[in-house]
Amino acid sequence: MGKKITEHVTWVGKIDWELNHFHGDELSTEKGSSYNAYLVRDTKKTVLLDTVWGPYDREFVARLKEEIDLKSIDAVIMQHNEVDHSGALMELMREIPETPIYCTKKGEAILRGYYHKDWNYVNVKTGDTMELGTQTLTFIEAPMLHWPDTMFTYMSGENILFSNDGFGQHFATENLYADKVCMGEMMYEAEKYFVNILNPFCPMVSRKVKEIVAMNLPISMICPSHGVIWRENPTQIVETYLRWADSYQENQVTLVYDTMWNSTRTMAEAIAKGIQDADPTVTVKLFNASKEDKNDIMTQIFRSKAILVGSPTINNGFSFAIAGILEMAKGLKFKKKKAAAFGSYGWSGEATKQLNEHLAAAGFEVVTDGCRTLWAPDQDAIDACRAYGREFAAAIG
Ligand code: FEO
Repeated sequence: MGKKITEHVTWVGKIDWELNHFHGDELSTEKGSSYNAYLVRDTKKTVLLDTVWGPYDREFVARLKEEIDLKSIDAVIMQHNEVDHSGALMELMREIPETPIYCTKKGEAILRGYYHKDWNYVNVKTGDTMELGTQTLTFIEAPMLHWPDTMFTYMSGENILFSNDGFGQHFATENLYADKVCMGEMMYEAEKYFVNILNPFCPMVSRKVKEIVAMNLPISMICPSHGVIWRENPTQIVETYLRWADSYQENQVTLVYDTMWNSTRTMAEAIAKGIQDADPTVTVKLFNASKEDKNDIMTQIFRSKAILVGSPTINNGFSFAIAGILEMAKGLKFKKKKAAAFGSYGWSGEATKQLNEHLAAAGFEVVTDGCRTLWAPDQDAIDACRAYGREFAAAIG
Protein backbone atom coordinates (compact mmCIF):
# COMPACT_ATOMS: atom_id res chain seq x y z
CA MET A 1 0.00 0.00 0.00
CA GLY A 2 1.04 3.56 -0.53
CA LYS A 3 1.55 6.22 2.10
CA LYS A 4 -1.05 8.96 2.19
CA ILE A 5 0.70 12.32 2.50
CA THR A 6 -2.18 14.75 2.00
CA GLU A 7 -5.90 14.52 1.38
CA HIS A 8 -5.26 14.08 -2.34
CA VAL A 9 -1.74 12.71 -2.63
CA THR A 10 -0.46 9.23 -1.86
CA TRP A 11 3.20 8.26 -2.11
CA VAL A 12 3.44 5.07 -4.17
CA GLY A 13 7.19 4.84 -4.75
CA LYS A 14 9.86 2.39 -3.73
CA ILE A 15 12.42 2.76 -0.95
CA ASP A 16 15.65 1.11 -2.03
CA TRP A 17 17.81 0.47 1.03
CA GLU A 18 20.22 -1.70 -0.94
CA LEU A 19 21.23 0.78 -3.61
CA ASN A 20 24.93 1.53 -3.23
CA HIS A 21 25.76 2.83 -6.68
CA PHE A 22 23.86 4.69 -9.36
CA HIS A 23 24.44 5.61 -13.00
CA GLY A 24 26.45 2.42 -13.35
CA ASP A 25 29.29 3.03 -10.96
CA GLU A 26 29.48 6.78 -11.53
CA LEU A 27 27.75 7.73 -8.28
CA SER A 28 28.06 6.06 -4.90
CA THR A 29 24.84 5.96 -2.89
CA GLU A 30 25.91 4.75 0.53
CA LYS A 31 22.60 5.66 2.15
CA GLY A 32 20.41 3.93 -0.41
CA SER A 33 17.72 5.88 -2.22
CA SER A 34 14.07 5.97 -3.08
CA TYR A 35 12.15 6.34 -6.31
CA ASN A 36 9.22 8.50 -5.32
CA ALA A 37 6.05 8.24 -7.35
CA TYR A 38 2.84 9.97 -6.37
CA LEU A 39 -0.79 9.17 -6.98
CA VAL A 40 -3.09 12.19 -7.00
CA ARG A 41 -6.80 11.48 -6.61
CA ASP A 42 -9.35 14.23 -7.06
CA THR A 43 -13.02 14.61 -7.89
CA LYS A 44 -12.59 14.62 -11.67
CA LYS A 45 -9.28 12.99 -12.38
CA THR A 46 -6.73 10.65 -10.94
CA VAL A 47 -3.14 10.89 -12.11
CA LEU A 48 0.13 9.13 -11.41
CA LEU A 49 3.31 11.20 -11.27
CA ASP A 50 6.35 9.15 -12.33
CA THR A 51 7.08 5.46 -11.73
CA VAL A 52 10.09 3.62 -10.28
CA TRP A 53 13.26 1.88 -11.46
CA GLY A 54 12.90 -1.28 -13.58
CA PRO A 55 13.97 -3.91 -11.03
CA TYR A 56 10.95 -2.91 -8.94
CA ASP A 57 8.46 -2.68 -11.81
CA ARG A 58 6.29 -5.68 -10.88
CA GLU A 59 6.29 -4.81 -7.22
CA PHE A 60 5.34 -1.23 -8.08
CA VAL A 61 2.43 -2.22 -10.30
CA ALA A 62 1.23 -4.83 -7.81
CA ARG A 63 1.25 -2.29 -4.98
CA LEU A 64 -0.41 0.31 -7.17
CA LYS A 65 -3.20 -2.18 -7.84
CA GLU A 66 -3.74 -2.52 -4.10
CA GLU A 67 -4.18 1.23 -4.01
CA ILE A 68 -6.35 1.78 -7.06
CA ASP A 69 -7.99 0.15 -10.07
CA LEU A 70 -5.35 0.97 -12.70
CA LYS A 71 -8.08 1.67 -15.24
CA SER A 72 -9.20 4.61 -13.17
CA ILE A 73 -5.87 6.38 -13.72
CA ASP A 74 -6.66 9.13 -16.20
CA ALA A 75 -3.07 10.09 -16.99
CA VAL A 76 0.50 9.17 -16.20
CA ILE A 77 2.66 12.25 -15.83
CA MET A 78 6.30 11.56 -16.55
CA GLN A 79 8.27 14.51 -15.27
CA HIS A 80 11.61 13.00 -16.29
CA ASN A 81 12.26 9.83 -18.19
CA GLU A 82 15.58 8.52 -16.97
CA VAL A 83 15.12 4.83 -16.21
CA ASP A 84 15.05 5.23 -12.44
CA HIS A 85 11.65 6.91 -12.94
CA SER A 86 10.40 5.40 -16.19
CA GLY A 87 11.62 1.85 -15.54
CA ALA A 88 8.23 0.53 -14.51
CA LEU A 89 6.33 2.07 -17.43
CA MET A 90 6.48 -1.04 -19.63
CA GLU A 91 4.93 -3.12 -16.87
CA LEU A 92 2.33 -0.46 -16.11
CA MET A 93 1.42 0.33 -19.71
CA ARG A 94 0.85 -3.34 -20.45
CA GLU A 95 -2.16 -2.99 -18.14
CA ILE A 96 -3.36 0.42 -19.33
CA PRO A 97 -1.98 0.82 -22.86
CA GLU A 98 -4.35 3.60 -23.89
CA THR A 99 -3.79 5.84 -20.89
CA PRO A 100 -2.18 9.11 -21.94
CA ILE A 101 1.39 9.82 -20.88
CA TYR A 102 1.94 13.52 -20.26
CA CYS A 103 5.54 14.63 -20.70
CA THR A 104 7.62 17.25 -22.47
CA LYS A 105 8.43 16.85 -26.15
CA LYS A 106 11.96 15.80 -25.19
CA GLY A 107 10.45 13.40 -22.68
CA GLU A 108 8.52 11.68 -25.45
CA ALA A 109 11.71 11.35 -27.49
CA ILE A 110 13.49 9.76 -24.54
CA LEU A 111 10.64 7.35 -23.83
CA ARG A 112 10.54 6.34 -27.48
CA GLY A 113 14.33 5.97 -27.41
CA TYR A 114 14.33 3.72 -24.38
CA TYR A 115 11.17 1.69 -24.83
CA HIS A 116 10.36 1.93 -28.57
CA LYS A 117 6.66 2.12 -27.84
CA ASP A 118 3.99 4.14 -29.57
CA TRP A 119 2.16 5.06 -26.40
CA ASN A 120 -0.48 7.79 -26.20
CA TYR A 121 1.91 10.70 -25.61
CA VAL A 122 0.63 14.16 -24.77
CA ASN A 123 3.32 16.84 -24.87
CA VAL A 124 3.13 19.62 -22.32
CA LYS A 125 5.07 22.82 -21.87
CA THR A 126 5.46 25.48 -19.22
CA GLY A 127 2.12 26.97 -18.20
CA ASP A 128 -0.02 24.10 -19.45
CA THR A 129 -2.50 23.00 -16.84
CA MET A 130 -4.61 19.99 -15.97
CA GLU A 131 -7.77 20.37 -13.92
CA LEU A 132 -8.22 17.50 -11.51
CA GLY A 133 -11.33 18.79 -9.77
CA THR A 134 -10.44 20.70 -6.65
CA GLN A 135 -6.73 20.72 -7.57
CA THR A 136 -4.97 22.08 -10.64
CA LEU A 137 -1.67 20.89 -12.00
CA THR A 138 0.59 23.37 -13.77
CA PHE A 139 3.60 22.08 -15.66
CA ILE A 140 6.92 23.90 -15.51
CA GLU A 141 9.65 22.79 -17.91
CA ALA A 142 13.03 22.59 -16.23
CA PRO A 143 15.43 21.61 -19.00
CA MET A 144 18.83 20.36 -17.87
CA LEU A 145 17.76 19.93 -14.26
CA HIS A 146 19.32 17.54 -15.03
CA TRP A 147 18.18 16.14 -18.38
CA PRO A 148 16.64 18.01 -21.32
CA ASP A 149 13.21 16.46 -20.70
CA THR A 150 12.86 17.41 -17.04
CA MET A 151 9.80 19.25 -15.82
CA PHE A 152 8.32 20.15 -12.46
CA THR A 153 4.62 20.04 -11.64
CA TYR A 154 2.94 22.48 -9.28
CA MET A 155 -0.38 21.49 -7.74
CA SER A 156 -2.45 24.47 -6.65
CA GLY A 157 -5.02 23.69 -4.02
CA GLU A 158 -2.72 21.78 -1.72
CA ASN A 159 0.20 23.90 -2.99
CA ILE A 160 2.64 21.10 -3.65
CA LEU A 161 5.68 21.37 -5.89
CA PHE A 162 6.60 18.03 -7.44
CA SER A 163 10.20 18.63 -8.39
CA ASN A 164 11.39 15.27 -9.67
CA ASP A 165 15.20 15.04 -9.32
CA GLY A 166 15.45 18.66 -8.14
CA PHE A 167 15.83 19.02 -4.34
CA GLY A 168 16.27 15.24 -4.02
CA GLN A 169 18.85 13.07 -2.35
CA HIS A 170 19.88 9.46 -2.55
CA PHE A 171 18.71 8.71 0.95
CA ALA A 172 16.55 5.82 2.03
CA THR A 173 14.12 6.43 4.86
CA GLU A 174 10.87 4.81 5.89
CA ASN A 175 9.92 8.09 7.54
CA LEU A 176 9.40 9.96 4.26
CA TYR A 177 9.80 13.51 5.58
CA ALA A 178 12.85 15.75 6.02
CA ASP A 179 11.73 16.64 9.53
CA LYS A 180 11.73 12.96 10.51
CA VAL A 181 15.34 12.11 9.68
CA CYS A 182 18.81 13.05 10.89
CA MET A 183 19.22 16.41 9.16
CA GLY A 184 23.03 16.29 9.02
CA GLU A 185 23.07 12.85 7.45
CA MET A 186 20.37 13.70 4.94
CA MET A 187 21.74 17.13 4.01
CA TYR A 188 25.14 15.63 3.26
CA GLU A 189 23.40 13.34 0.77
CA ALA A 190 21.47 16.31 -0.66
CA GLU A 191 24.75 18.14 -1.16
CA LYS A 192 26.52 15.12 -2.65
CA TYR A 193 23.58 14.67 -5.01
CA PHE A 194 23.66 18.32 -6.04
CA VAL A 195 27.42 18.25 -6.63
CA ASN A 196 27.53 15.02 -8.57
CA ILE A 197 24.32 15.38 -10.56
CA LEU A 198 23.35 19.04 -10.82
CA ASN A 199 26.57 21.02 -10.51
CA PRO A 200 27.31 20.97 -14.27
CA PHE A 201 23.99 22.73 -14.77
CA CYS A 202 24.32 25.44 -12.11
CA PRO A 203 23.37 28.33 -14.44
CA MET A 204 20.14 26.53 -15.38
CA VAL A 205 19.48 25.57 -11.76
CA SER A 206 19.95 29.16 -10.65
CA ARG A 207 17.73 30.56 -13.39
CA LYS A 208 14.95 28.02 -12.90
CA VAL A 209 14.92 28.24 -9.12
CA LYS A 210 14.84 32.06 -9.28
CA GLU A 211 12.00 31.83 -11.83
CA ILE A 212 10.01 29.62 -9.47
CA VAL A 213 10.73 31.89 -6.50
CA ALA A 214 9.58 34.89 -8.59
CA MET A 215 6.25 33.17 -9.27
CA ASN A 216 5.49 33.63 -5.57
CA LEU A 217 3.66 30.35 -5.48
CA PRO A 218 2.54 29.29 -2.04
CA ILE A 219 4.47 26.10 -1.34
CA SER A 220 3.34 23.88 1.50
CA MET A 221 5.35 20.86 0.43
CA ILE A 222 8.10 19.91 -2.02
CA CYS A 223 7.94 16.35 -3.25
CA PRO A 224 11.07 15.23 -5.10
CA SER A 225 11.58 11.91 -6.83
CA HIS A 226 14.41 10.77 -4.54
CA GLY A 227 14.70 10.90 -0.77
CA VAL A 228 12.68 12.96 1.65
CA ILE A 229 9.62 15.17 1.23
CA TRP A 230 10.08 18.75 2.45
CA ARG A 231 7.09 19.94 4.50
CA GLU A 232 8.41 21.99 7.46
CA ASN A 233 9.82 25.21 6.02
CA PRO A 234 9.88 23.48 2.62
CA THR A 235 11.66 26.30 0.83
CA GLN A 236 14.78 25.83 2.96
CA ILE A 237 16.10 23.50 0.29
CA VAL A 238 15.25 26.07 -2.39
CA GLU A 239 17.35 28.68 -0.59
CA THR A 240 20.16 26.16 -0.18
CA TYR A 241 20.06 25.39 -3.90
CA LEU A 242 20.39 29.08 -4.71
CA ARG A 243 23.58 29.21 -2.62
CA TRP A 244 24.96 25.97 -4.02
CA ALA A 245 24.29 27.03 -7.61
CA ASP A 246 26.17 30.31 -7.18
CA SER A 247 29.84 29.18 -7.34
CA TYR A 248 29.59 27.83 -3.81
CA GLN A 249 32.69 27.62 -1.65
CA GLU A 250 33.71 27.55 1.97
CA ASN A 251 37.01 28.50 3.59
CA GLN A 252 38.42 25.09 2.73
CA VAL A 253 41.41 23.76 0.83
CA THR A 254 41.34 20.14 -0.27
CA LEU A 255 44.40 18.11 -1.21
CA VAL A 256 43.65 15.11 -3.40
CA TYR A 257 46.60 12.87 -4.09
CA ASP A 258 47.71 9.42 -5.03
CA THR A 259 50.91 7.86 -3.84
CA MET A 260 53.01 4.80 -4.68
CA TRP A 261 55.62 4.69 -1.90
CA ASN A 262 54.30 7.48 0.34
CA SER A 263 56.51 10.25 -1.11
CA THR A 264 53.58 12.19 -2.56
CA ARG A 265 51.59 11.55 0.62
CA THR A 266 54.43 12.96 2.72
CA MET A 267 54.47 16.00 0.43
CA ALA A 268 50.70 16.43 0.84
CA GLU A 269 50.98 16.39 4.63
CA ALA A 270 53.81 18.93 4.61
CA ILE A 271 51.97 21.22 2.17
CA ALA A 272 48.86 20.99 4.38
CA LYS A 273 50.93 22.16 7.37
CA GLY A 274 52.27 25.08 5.34
CA ILE A 275 48.74 26.15 4.38
CA GLN A 276 47.73 26.13 8.04
CA ASP A 277 50.92 28.03 9.02
CA ALA A 278 49.80 30.78 6.67
CA ASP A 279 46.09 30.67 7.54
CA PRO A 280 45.03 28.85 10.71
CA THR A 281 41.38 29.61 9.95
CA VAL A 282 41.26 27.55 6.77
CA THR A 283 39.89 24.00 6.85
CA VAL A 284 42.40 21.68 5.19
CA LYS A 285 41.41 18.17 4.15
CA LEU A 286 43.47 15.42 2.55
CA PHE A 287 42.16 12.52 0.51
CA ASN A 288 43.95 9.64 -1.13
CA ALA A 289 42.12 9.31 -4.46
CA SER A 290 42.80 5.58 -4.67
CA LYS A 291 41.18 4.96 -1.28
CA GLU A 292 38.48 7.58 -0.81
CA ASP A 293 35.12 7.55 -2.55
CA LYS A 294 35.31 9.64 -5.72
CA ASN A 295 31.92 11.29 -5.23
CA ASP A 296 32.73 12.26 -1.66
CA ILE A 297 35.96 13.80 -2.99
CA MET A 298 33.89 15.78 -5.51
CA THR A 299 31.72 17.00 -2.67
CA GLN A 300 34.81 18.20 -0.80
CA ILE A 301 36.14 19.91 -3.93
CA PHE A 302 32.75 21.63 -4.25
CA ARG A 303 33.17 23.03 -0.73
CA SER A 304 36.71 24.22 -1.39
CA LYS A 305 37.97 27.59 -2.50
CA ALA A 306 41.13 25.88 -3.76
CA ILE A 307 42.48 22.42 -4.35
CA LEU A 308 45.88 20.79 -4.71
CA VAL A 309 46.16 17.67 -6.80
CA GLY A 310 49.15 15.40 -6.37
CA SER A 311 50.48 12.36 -8.13
CA PRO A 312 53.82 10.73 -8.55
CA THR A 313 55.05 10.58 -12.11
CA ILE A 314 54.18 7.13 -13.47
CA ASN A 315 55.03 6.03 -17.00
CA ASN A 316 55.53 9.65 -18.07
CA GLY A 317 52.10 10.55 -16.74
CA PHE A 318 50.04 10.52 -13.56
CA SER A 319 48.07 7.91 -11.68
CA PHE A 320 44.90 6.13 -12.71
CA ALA A 321 42.97 7.35 -9.67
CA ILE A 322 43.97 10.97 -10.19
CA ALA A 323 43.06 10.75 -13.88
CA GLY A 324 39.55 9.71 -12.84
CA ILE A 325 39.26 12.53 -10.34
CA LEU A 326 40.36 15.12 -12.90
CA GLU A 327 37.98 13.82 -15.55
CA MET A 328 35.11 13.84 -13.09
CA ALA A 329 35.96 17.34 -11.82
CA LYS A 330 36.12 18.60 -15.39
CA GLY A 331 32.65 17.23 -16.13
CA LEU A 332 31.18 18.78 -12.99
CA LYS A 333 32.27 22.25 -14.16
CA PHE A 334 33.32 23.76 -10.86
CA LYS A 335 33.60 27.54 -10.96
CA LYS A 336 35.86 30.11 -9.28
CA LYS A 337 38.22 27.62 -7.67
CA LYS A 338 41.98 27.93 -7.55
CA ALA A 339 44.36 25.03 -7.89
CA ALA A 340 47.86 23.71 -8.36
CA ALA A 341 49.63 20.38 -8.60
CA PHE A 342 52.40 18.56 -6.79
CA GLY A 343 54.08 15.20 -6.79
CA SER A 344 57.19 13.12 -6.39
CA TYR A 345 59.25 11.69 -9.22
CA GLY A 346 62.28 9.57 -9.88
CA TRP A 347 63.54 10.66 -13.30
CA SER A 348 61.29 12.28 -15.93
CA GLY A 349 58.93 14.05 -13.49
CA GLU A 350 56.36 15.49 -15.89
CA ALA A 351 53.22 14.66 -13.87
CA THR A 352 53.06 17.99 -12.02
CA LYS A 353 53.11 20.02 -15.22
CA GLN A 354 50.55 17.71 -16.81
CA LEU A 355 48.27 17.95 -13.78
CA ASN A 356 48.39 21.74 -13.91
CA GLU A 357 47.40 21.59 -17.58
CA HIS A 358 44.51 19.26 -16.79
CA LEU A 359 43.39 21.45 -13.91
CA ALA A 360 43.35 24.48 -16.21
CA ALA A 361 41.42 22.51 -18.82
CA ALA A 362 38.93 21.54 -16.10
CA GLY A 363 38.23 25.21 -15.37
CA PHE A 364 40.42 25.74 -12.30
CA GLU A 365 42.56 28.85 -11.99
CA VAL A 366 46.07 27.45 -11.66
CA VAL A 367 47.95 29.75 -9.30
CA THR A 368 51.48 28.27 -9.19
CA ASP A 369 53.72 25.98 -11.22
CA GLY A 370 53.32 23.44 -8.47
CA CYS A 371 55.74 21.56 -6.29
CA ARG A 372 57.93 18.54 -7.12
CA THR A 373 60.19 16.33 -5.04
CA LEU A 374 62.84 13.94 -6.35
CA TRP A 375 62.53 10.44 -4.84
CA ALA A 376 61.52 10.38 -1.19
CA PRO A 377 61.41 13.77 0.50
CA ASP A 378 64.18 14.36 3.06
CA GLN A 379 63.84 17.02 5.75
CA ASP A 380 64.90 19.77 3.32
CA ALA A 381 62.28 18.63 0.83
CA ILE A 382 59.65 18.43 3.56
CA ASP A 383 60.52 21.97 4.61
CA ALA A 384 60.30 23.05 0.97
CA CYS A 385 56.83 21.50 0.69
CA ARG A 386 55.76 23.28 3.85
CA ALA A 387 57.07 26.55 2.41
CA TYR A 388 55.20 25.75 -0.77
CA GLY A 389 52.02 25.35 1.28
CA ARG A 390 52.54 28.86 2.67
CA GLU A 391 53.13 30.17 -0.85
CA PHE A 392 49.99 28.45 -2.10
CA ALA A 393 47.93 29.89 0.77
CA ALA A 394 49.19 33.37 -0.11
CA ALA A 395 48.39 32.80 -3.79
CA ILE A 396 44.77 31.79 -3.14
CA GLY A 397 44.20 34.78 -0.83
FE1 FEO B 1 16.38 10.35 -10.80
FE2 FEO B 1 17.62 11.78 -13.48
O1 FEO B 1 16.75 10.44 -12.60
